[in-house]
Amino acid sequence: MPALAHKICVAPMMECTDRHQRYFMRLITRFTVLYTEMIPVAALLNGDRQRLLRFDESEHPVAVQLGGSDRAALRDGAKLAEDFGYDEVNINVGCPSPRVNAGRFGACLLDEPDIVADSVALMRAAVDIPVTVKTRIGLDHDESASRLYRLVSRIEQAGCTTVVVHARNAWLNGLSPKENRDVPPLRYPVVHALKRDFPHLEIVVNGGIRDLHDVREQLRHCDGVMLGREAYANPFLLAEADREFFGAAPHACTREAVLYRFLPYLERQLAEGVPLSAITRHILGLYRGVPGARAWRRAVSERSRAKRADAVTLREVAHLLTAGAPASPGPPSAESVAALSSRPGMHAKSSPGA
Ligand SMILES: Cc1cc2nc3c(=O)[nH]c(=O)nc-3n(C[C@H](O)[C@H](O)[C@H](O)COP(=O)(O)O)c2cc1C
Repeated sequence: MPALAHKICVAPMMECTDRHQRYFMRLITRFTVLYTEMIPVAALLNGDRQRLLRFDESEHPVAVQLGGSDRAALRDGAKLAEDFGYDEVNINVGCPSPRVNAGRFGACLLDEPDIVADSVALMRAAVDIPVTVKTRIGLDHDESASRLYRLVSRIEQAGCTTVVVHARNAWLNGLSPKENRDVPPLRYPVVHALKRDFPHLEIVVNGGIRDLHDVREQLRHCDGVMLGREAYANPFLLAEADREFFGAAPHACTREAVLYRFLPYLERQLAEGVPLSAITRHILGLYRGVPGARAWRRAVSERSRAKRADAVTLREVAHLLTAGAPASPGPPSAESVAALSSRPGMHAKSSPGA
């Protein structure tokens, strides 16, 4: 088994898992492995590396995901990632987007196991950090697992020890990337069988995992679980996961504590010129499932869009939420939500479980 354990991971998600979101997640969970958005390796080698790879030290363990099929470019990208301090480099073999597939990378690499395996071997020779692969279970309507098994055998020979498997086929024709995350059926048994057939590999299952019950169930079959949309929409779930699966107290054990620890970061980013909404959009789910969630989302998004939005704005919102319960912070109190709703521009009613 590899040095970096992937028991719980937060999936790479374009437009979602940027450095602000990862910083925020790390205030909630200490042990899950966080992934960047996919970075096309050509953009990395020819573009602004600092902008694309920059991350905060607190984000460890953090993995960068690269997209590409040029072996040497992937090797150079892996080297850059290691130099920047990433803990792992992951190759994308799952993205079904037409643009990505036109570039001959992403999910279509399921048909090119030699390219993926050669890249893994070259990358491993160039870096000391783990080189991992994230793939789908198949392509289009082929329900056999032959492509998956060919790929996994080849990359195992090349020295890959961790494979993340999104338990759906990618349909390369006729579905948008978004539809490709919902329409092809989830087939977890394929991933479970893969683990049985490759017992030495660390197999991380991904796709449709919504709560800790699902996580528990999947961990009976696989070494790790990767959560995508649910982790983004309901980040505090990861605090509970830390407690249950790592037996540890999270960094900040209430939502309010997370928020207050996030504010100094927010202030630093604003001072660098990052717009408030570019950061706060990632924290809208903090109160998911508790009373006041909708008022919180609305207050934060409306205020973040204001012309002169700054950290004071968010501090104000946070204060309103926690008002009246500073000693035993829990869900926002009814009074604080009412106060939020009655402020100019806020007409939200509190909505349990929003
Ligand atoms: C907005 C969005 C962007 C995504 N971007 C990537 C990506 O950059 N790389 C990748 O491997 N998967 C990407 N995915 C797929 C997720 O990593 C994950 O495989 C998929 O959402 C299924 O997991 P879930 O059901 O837990 O969300 C993306 C998913 C979403 C929703």
